[in-house]
Amino acid sequence: MNRLESNPKVPYVVGSKSPTAVAINSASKAGEWIKSRLGGIHELNTKQSPHDLVTDVDKGAEAMIRKLILTHFPDHDILGEEGVAPGAAASAAALSQAGTSDYLWIVDPVDGTTNFVHGFPFFCVSIALAYKGEVIIGVIYDPMRDELFVAEKGKGAYLHGQRAKVSGDGVLAESVVAVGFNPDRNFALPTNLRGLNALSGEVRSLRAAGSAALHLAYVAAGRLSGYYEVGLNAWDVAAGALIVAESGGRVTDTAGAPYNLGVRHLVASNGHVHQELLDVIQKADATGL
Ligand code: IPD
Ligand code: CA
Ligand code: CA
Repeated sequence: MNRLESNPKVPYVVGSKSPTAVAINSASKAGEWIKSRLGGIHELNTKQSPHDLVTDVDKGAEAMIRKLILTHFPDHDILGEEGVAPGAAASAAALSQAGTSDYLWIVDPVDGTTNFVHGFPFFCVSIALAYKGEVIIGVIYDPMRDELFVAEKGKGAYLHGQRAKVSGDGVLAESVVAVGFNPDRNFALPTNLRGLNALSGEVRSLRAAGSAALHLAYVAAGRLSGYYEVGLNAWDVAAGALIVAESGGRVTDTAGAPYNLGVRHLVASNGHVHQELLDVIQKADATGL
C-alpha cells in the first residue's frame, strides 16, 4: 500500500527539492512558455485604466507557477499579482492578509506586460520567497536573453552561476539610472515625472525600459547604477530587492528607510550613489510619501 492509499487526506508531496530549485524551475518553465506566446496573445484586457494591461498569458503563467510551487510546498502561501484586485489599497490588504503559513511566495508572472503586448523584448518572471515577512530567495528570469538572476539571503546573487556585483560608479553624474511609469496616472505619474525631471539634470543618462524587476536585476548586475519609482507593488520588487542587496547594493524607500515587503516607493542603487539619489528625489518633492 502506498502513502496515498494508506491516508488519502495527506497531500502527496513530490520529492524534496529546495525552494530555490523550485523557484528557478518555475521561473524558467513559465518564462519559456511566455516567450512562446510572444505575438500570440488570445485575450487582452485592461485593469483599472487603459494603461494597465493584462493578458491570458499573465494569467496562464501565474497559474502554471502556482501549480509548480504547490506541487512541492502544498502548505505554503502564494501572493500573485493576478490574484489581487488592482490599486494600492487592494495590494496593501492582500499583503497583510497573505495567508497563515510562515512561508509566502510572491509572484509577478509577467513583469513588463505592456512590453510583452507590444513586442518590446524586455519582460521577465519574478518569484520571491519570504519567511516570516523577510525575503530569503529571489529569482528573476528574462526569457528573451535567457538570463537568470538568483539570490539567496546571505549567500550572494548570481547571474548564470557568476557572482553578480553592482557597479562601481561613485557619483550620479557618471551613472545611468532607470525610472518607471506606473499605470496610476493620478498619483504615481506626476510624482514619477517630478523625480525624472529632477534626475535628468544630475545623471549621465536615464532609462525607462518598462520592467521594475529587470531594472532591479540590472542594478544588481552593474548595468544600471540606480532605479527609482513610486507606486510599485510587492510582486514588482520582492525578488529584485534581495538580488540587489546580495549584489552589494542598497534598497530603501524614498525616505531612506530599509526595504520591506510593504514598500511601494522605491530607490535601489549600487550603494555609492544612494544618498545622492535620495537627495535629488526628496528635493524635488518626488518621494510619494
Ligand atoms: C509594471 C512594470 C513597470 C512599472 C510598473 C509595474 P507589470 O509591472 O514593472 O515597469 O513601471 O510600475 O506595474 O504590470 O508589467 O507587471
Ligand atoms: Ca509588475
Ligand atoms: Ca505583472
